[in-house]
Amino acid sequence: MAGRRVLVRVDFNVPLEDGRILDDTRIREAVPTIKDLVERNARVILMTHLGRPDGEVDEKARTTPLAERLSELIGRPVEHLDDCIGAQVEQAVGAMHDGDIIMLENVRFHSGETKNDPEFARQLASLGDLYVNDAFGTAHRAHASTAGIAHYLPAVAGLLMEREIRTLGKVMSDPPHPLVAIIGGSKISTKIGVLRSLLERVDRLCVGGAMACTFLKAKGLSMGRSLVEEDQLEVARSLLSGGSGRAGGLVLPLDAVVAEDARAGVKTETVAIDSVPADMKVLDVGPMTVERFLQTCDGAAAVVWNGPLGVYEVPPFDHGTDALAHGLAGSDAETIIGGGDLVAALEKQHLAERMSFVSTGGGATLEFLEGKTLPGIAALQDRRPG
Ligand code: 3PG
Repeated sequence: MAGRRVLVRVDFNVPLEDGRILDDTRIREAVPTIKDLVERNARVILMTHLGRPDGEVDEKARTTPLAERLSELIGRPVEHLDDCIGAQVEQAVGAMHDGDIIMLENVRFHSGETKNDPEFARQLASLGDLYVNDAFGTAHRAHASTAGIAHYLPAVAGLLMEREIRTLGKVMSDPPHPLVAIIGGSKISTKIGVLRSLLERVDRLCVGGAMACTFLKAKGLSMGRSLVEEDQLEVARSLLSGGSGRAGGLVLPLDAVVAEDARAGVKTETVAIDSVPADMKVLDVGPMTVERFLQTCDGAAAVVWNGPLGVYEVPPFDHGTDALAHGLAGSDAETIIGGGDLVAALEKQHLAERMSFVSTGGGATLEFLEGKTLPGIAALQDRRPG
């Protein structure tokens, strides 16, 4: 590996506020791959996207703060370049020494990235001798730096990518039993694929979040002013009948925390699920539901959890999610957290590190658990069957 130029695609698409990184999990999770390459005296060239700048330079989406944070984490200089292709970039790469790290500018400043333009992919590829994809979070995108580039260079998975594929792949193809899934979030329409896929694989499936309201309404209960996807009621009914699935039905909330609206300081009430007042919205699950979900997980070999159980961004509607997380943190089951919003909720409570595995993907994790082929994985030579 010494002296070789290794192009590493990372997913450093982290939340930023005024140039300040709010959550550096994705950067920290990529450190083992980068460190390993540096220790083997490779010349490491990092590529990432940040936000959706749509093929134009956006000063707020520069990768400079990402390079700075990585440098702090890894304890070595990380040189930031102002572009990701072109003469100046080639010159800087040409001047690298063994063990050096360069961070290229946001690949989405060029429209060729999201169009998976072969010429843009070739230009990126010309910077390296080997391509390592460690960007699991972007593996569901067929873009130049995640898929197209693999036509031009030997392409392999990084350590984070490998861990994600191994852990989530096991859920899909060789899960330990009993396996329980907990799915939250607001919309059935975005989770329908994952619900169908998990119903075939898990022994029990618990549903929380606003999404549960559509299921409960489909069962004939009144959900007051809650968010209900009327156009998904038929889908909800077919999932509730559960005939085909291994799980044989869904575990739904028994009680709910209701209020007029999801705002801080609003008056709340905990009610039985069949007594939601007509002028109220369901904004969180209640304590009986948390207890029921935890009982369902009792004795499980593994629990897969995706999506918060309530409007966790607005306290006190984060209680249900927090209580379930605390309960699972102390359980013997392997706890696999399926990325996205839920990770932010767990980080807030410092509970992410008490789970067995926290995926760095959002959309990518969902698509993986739906059983879809992810282009960023399919392009690799050492891909494993998911
Ligand atoms: C994510 O945050 O889910 C990934 O980085 C992908 O980002 P995208 O949805 O903008 O492609």
